[in-house]
Amino acid sequence: MGMSWAYGDADRDDATSRQVVNRALDLGVTFIDTASVYGVGDNERLVGSALAGRRDEAFLATKTGLRSDYETRRIRRDASPEWVRADVTGSLERLGVDVIDLLYLHRIDPATPLEETWGALAEFVTEGKVRYLGLSEVGVAELDRAQAIHPVTAVQSELSLWTRDPLGSVPLATGNPAGVGGGGGGNVVQWCADNGAAFVPFSPLGRGYLTGTISASSEFEATDLRASNPRFSAEARAENERLVEVVRRVAERLGARPGQVAIAWTLAQGEHVIPIPGTKRVAYLEENAGAAAIDLDAAALTELTELPAASGSRY
Ligand SMILES: NC(=O)c1ccc[n+]([C@@H]2O[C@H](COP(=O)([O-])OP(=O)(O)OC[C@H]3O[C@@H](n4cnc5c(N)ncnc54)[C@H](OP(=O)(O)O)[C@@H]3O)[C@@H](O)[C@H]2O)c1
Repeated sequence: MGMSWAYGDADRDDATSRQVVNRALDLGVTFIDTASVYGVGDNERLVGSALAGRRDEAFLATKTGLRSDYETRRIRRDASPEWVRADVTGSLERLGVDVIDLLYLHRIDPATPLEETWGALAEFVTEGKVRYLGLSEVGVAELDRAQAIHPVTAVQSELSLWTRDPLGSVPLATGNPAGVGGGGGGNVVQWCADNGAAFVPFSPLGRGYLTGTISASSEFEATDLRASNPRFSAEARAENERLVEVVRRVAERLGARPGQVAIAWTLAQGEHVIPIPGTKRVAYLEENAGAAAIDLDAAALTELTELPAASGSRY
């Protein structure tokens, strides 16, 4: 996502981003994630060009159900059967592939019953244009409804040391399915384990914060979504420093980097949990890939699990 959109324009360079994707494949990191709204199609075009000649080495996921206005770049929900059909047809073209391995519903659209959207997405599987379906930012109630129509293969939602909603910390009654942050509720990670689905934590590095490289005095470009994210206000960052302190301490003891500890914690949530850290730099990619080799011992897991709640809402 950050290669084309969301985290500012500085240091973004398509040629380097293509090197990052190729280095990932070389390292055995094969799960590549994009979405039609990342840069209004730009990220799918970039990923498609990066994978040229190596398509078969990647497990390629994209998303539909959001829609961006080309001029204003504003994003809204649209998971009507008409839009998802047009959007996914566009994704196949932009990616330059015959088949998408995993297609997620990016957000449920309150204006379209989930059953209608999910049925429309299942048609792509019947047609051989998509292999598997998933959903993003949903709760167990919505998952049960989708599963009744077509198997849910993966759920992608925010999960990290400072966002634990998918572990059931948000009860069903207070879920927020219409909000920008998605919502739902219940223990989605457990639902996935029980139903043979993968759980895919997005923003496992807390949008960079958990790497310890962002401080209360860091400044964000106007095009960086973190500039308006409550959890990244200067006050919240100052308060959340106490979380990063713990992550740093654990990392030092294990001879690892804080970001690696954050990723390793998501990996420790279950065999079916597959985090997707994002970066546009080869050095960060190599560091993040190293997290797979880090074993969090019982003391580290306890210390990390007992972290206080983060200050500031996540959207
Ligand atoms: N389903 C959804 O609604 C949704 C929402 C958000 C994200 N996602 C997906 O999840 C992916 C990852 O999430 P994310 O990019 O939002 O957040 P993330 O992976 O938690 O963090 C990315 C940020 O951390 C920085 N970073 C990465 N590795 C680092 C390292 N080793 N040391 C220091 N900084 C490091 C990146 O900087 P650089 O960019 O400078 O490398 C970037 O600013 C996205 O690419 C996207 O595919 C999905």
